[in-house]
Amino acid sequence: MIPSQWLATLLGGFIAVQAAVAIDLTVTDQSSLKSAAKQVATDMMNYYDNRDSKNIPGKLDGTWWEGGSMFMILIQYWFLTGDSQFNSVIQEGMYWQKGEDDFFPSNYSQYLGNDDQVFWGLAAITAAELNFPEESNQPSWVSLAQGVFNTQVPRWDTSTCHGGLRWQIWPYQAGYQTKNAISNGGLFQLAARLALYTHNQTYAQWAERIWDWSATTPLLKEKNWNIADSTSPESGCTDHGDWQWTYNYATYISGAAYMHNYTDGKESKWKEGIEGLLGTSEQFYPTKGFGSDDGSILAEITCEAIEKCDRNQITFKAYFSSWLAWLTLIVPGTSDQILPKLATSATAATKTCVKDGHLCGIQWYKQASDGTDGLEQQMAVLGVLNANLVPFKNQAPYTSDTGGTSKGNPSAGTNSTATNTLITKPITTGDRAGAGILTVIFVTGWVVAITWMIRGG
Ligand SMILES: *[C@@H]1O[C@H](CO)[C@@H](O)[C@H](O)[C@H]1NC(C)=O
Ligand SMILES: *[C@@H]1O[C@H](CO)[C@@H](O)[C@H](O)[C@H]1NC(C)=O
Ligand SMILES: *[C@@H]1O[C@H](CO)[C@@H](O)[C@H](O)[C@H]1NC(C)=O
Ligand SMILES: *[C@@H]1O[C@H](CO)[C@@H](O)[C@H](O)[C@H]1NC(C)=O
Repeated sequence: MIPSQWLATLLGGFIAVQAAVAIDLTVTDQSSLKSAAKQVATDMMNYYDNRDSKNIPGKLDGTWWEGGSMFMILIQYWFLTGDSQFNSVIQEGMYWQKGEDDFFPSNYSQYLGNDDQVFWGLAAITAAELNFPEESNQPSWVSLAQGVFNTQVPRWDTSTCHGGLRWQIWPYQAGYQTKNAISNGGLFQLAARLALYTHNQTYAQWAERIWDWSATTPLLKEKNWNIADSTSPESGCTDHGDWQWTYNYATYISGAAYMHNYTDGKESKWKEGIEGLLGTSEQFYPTKGFGSDDGSILAEITCEAIEKCDRNQITFKAYFSSWLAWLTLIVPGTSDQILPKLATSATAATKTCVKDGHLCGIQWYKQASDGTDGLEQQMAVLGVLNANLVPFKNQAPYTSDTGGTSKGNPSAGTNSTATNTLITKPITTGDRAGAGILTVIFVTGWVVAITWMIRGG
């Protein structure tokens, strides 16, 4: 018995050491970044493959929008690493959820917000900009992004606050009573990217309109470059929910970057916006109150230290890190400010990938396991690894005249029933059935809305 006990002790020790092994990353080495990213992406897709709703492509359990953001990050991963093993899964999910070419599928449209929809649009424009493979019998990536734009623009609500998108789309939804940064910043970014990709000025005009409108509200305070999360039409868009979130900043910064490039650097407002918001984004590299206080590790400061990040919030750092990294390619001169801290963040992030030897946590500043794991944690770490691969690939997003092959369709999504004009136009006999259906939706909608609030949006 003694030898085997001895062996067990030895083995036990070995397993304990194994379990503590994090993903090994040399952040200055492209192949090390690629292999770390491959591990993190593979684990993310294991969660995806093991979900309950796996017979519905692109639909994650308990959330719809995260499917879109996950594909966005995976498309970047493919482009930056050349690893195409997930491409068919991405295509399948994106096409399945495309709705009437507007990413507003009727299964979920009753309870979606503008922000949910726009993330799928951002995934589609990412696919277009990176020449992600298209299927010939399917709408093009850029047309799907246009479809989202075309269904969101009619929701621009001038009846309160002289404009702005509401968070949610239907009056029975709790979020209908707010106008928030991610919905407006999301459409701003989408419009700016469509402007640069297609060179159609209409998109640029909308981008500028959304930016300028945001600047009349707490959602974009140009005076001190602060971004409030939300404001309410009831207050005339003067009140403000002040939680600070990385993705709110990143979506406006990224949109401004595309506009800066679209206008050839000739409109100073975009450069000023980028510089101002990059400055206030430094708050996400905290210098106190977090384990590592040297200001070099990205943290979702509003929820991480108190361990209250919900699953949505766990993903935000993916968007912040990758959008800012891509920005350095279209706004020359920003790399020195942006990239070094994304490198230290990636190194810290992979040190949380300890569970079972490789599953990641979310409190990167701890640089050790935080005891959590999940698809969202993997997505966040994949985002910051992508960010570090961007300068190695060093290929700016393609546009229609620099090699982008995806072909636009300016009227995509215009057949859609997804705008809320049904509610604001005078009711005709033809609409009465619709109104009846709406009453039913109203009731179920409240249940969904309440669940939504409990889940924290
Ligand atoms: C809508 O729901 C049905 C029934 O569950 C499912 O078969 C279908 O795949 C869903 N469609 C989408 C776009 O999720
Ligand atoms: C726009 O982006 C391209 C890369 O696609 C870059 O070469 C160019 O310098 C950028 N233009 C401006 C004005 O920053
Ligand atoms: C530009 O986009 C607008 C809005 O979608 C569309 O109405 C117009 O036809 C487009 N113009 C061109 C030249 O594609
Ligand atoms: C709208 O629907 C009509 C009739 O079904 C179709 O011919 C047309 O191509 C559709 N347009 C778009 C932009 O999808």
